[in-house]
Amino acid sequence: MRLCEFQTALVAVSLVAAFPASTAASDNSAAEIAGSYPQADEFLGEKLQAGEVEAAVEISKIISSAIQRKYAPGQARRDAHPKAHGCVRAKFTVHEDLDGTLSQGVFSPGKSYSAWIRFSNGDGDPNRPDFDGDGRGMAIKLLDIGADTLMPDDQGAKTQDFIMISHPVFLINDVKDYTSLINHVNSDSWFVRIFRPLLLPLDLGFRGLGIARDTTAKKIDNPLKTRYWSMVPYQLGVGEQRQAVKFSARPCSTHSHAVPEGAGKDFLRAAMRDTLATQDACMEFLVQPRTSASMSVEDSQTEWLEAEAPFHTMARIDIPKQEFDTPAQNEFCENLSYTPWHALPEHKPLGAVNRMRKVIYQHISRVRRDMNNVSPTDIQLRQEDPSPPADTSRLPR
Ligand code: HEM
Repeated sequence: MRLCEFQTALVAVSLVAAFPASTAASDNSAAEIAGSYPQADEFLGEKLQAGEVEAAVEISKIISSAIQRKYAPGQARRDAHPKAHGCVRAKFTVHEDLDGTLSQGVFSPGKSYSAWIRFSNGDGDPNRPDFDGDGRGMAIKLLDIGADTLMPDDQGAKTQDFIMISHPVFLINDVKDYTSLINHVNSDSWFVRIFRPLLLPLDLGFRGLGIARDTTAKKIDNPLKTRYWSMVPYQLGVGEQRQAVKFSARPCSTHSHAVPEGAGKDFLRAAMRDTLATQDACMEFLVQPRTSASMSVEDSQTEWLEAEAPFHTMARIDIPKQEFDTPAQNEFCENLSYTPWHALPEHKPLGAVNRMRKVIYQHISRVRRDMNNVSPTDIQLRQEDPSPPADTSRLPR
């Protein structure tokens, strides 16, 4: 194997660690998972893949047992995006002059929401230095959305979450290939460990490998000054008018991304801390409506080109000057749960990757919180004042 092929395989390993598998699902939870699996919406072109529900259950099992092997009770981290740069308070204000077709769900013109935003590295290793390339995460949680989400039984969750990464496309479409990949990445077998650099490229395919390489090659100098994408599509609106969209967030002003000389291993947290110690930060939230049925909601690997499907600016995200890097707030941040399915029906996640994420994230975040003995409480408690509660067992979802 040539060096570049070997490096690509290693990149694939780290990317997969960033898009890991799921929870130690018992037979009972497997039945529960299958029972709550999302229906495909044919109107928007969704189509269930053969074996998709089984793949979600299998991935859940692999990821949950990986977390239980990797972390001691009380110290469980996320399987993907375990390294946070911090959780910041923000205000998300919808623009007054939105086009009627875009004014759906949380996008009510002029409406403003308090929000928590968690910035992260994608790699499964929470100690990986920030100066290495990686996919970076931005997860927005809008509070007090005033209605039940698509997970109403999720212990009172009433938040709209928007989850993004610093690359426009996801590495895989086929659920069986993805299960095989997750299996190979997490396997303890000596045979798999030896042949992993060969097996992973086979799972990913040529296109998936290219996306893995591009995603994990990203180097940034400040998470507040980076652009992020949803990678996979979502619904906008309900009924006959509903359409497929992707979303994105970008800094209000443009910026170059050179990593500073002598950057330390956690320099992205320091960069956020330094910025927010002296100034406010600002980002724009954008939505990209699909302009042709050939932009399939089941295809996570193909970018919807901006030239063919322009983005519309929907909201402004204000991140005021603040001190966020405190032990209490960091613990609060780690115990939050983000999922694309903390969503109003108007923002239903679409496509196989998103359908699988419904059961996987719910299961994994439960395993993680159970290991840490954290009991979530009603989000209503935090709507007025989203500061971390003194009793950190009382947390929003
Ligand atoms: C089937 C495919 C995927 C699987 C199995 C998967 C799995 C996971 C898991 C298990 C977590 C941790 C959940 C928790 O403990 O609360 C997570 C977090 C995350 N995932 Fe995924 N993921 C997938 C696809 C994606 C995609 C397409 C994106 C693109 C935006 C993404 C972005 C993120 C981010 C940013 C986080 C961190 C959220 C936070 O800050 O809490 N994932 N993922």
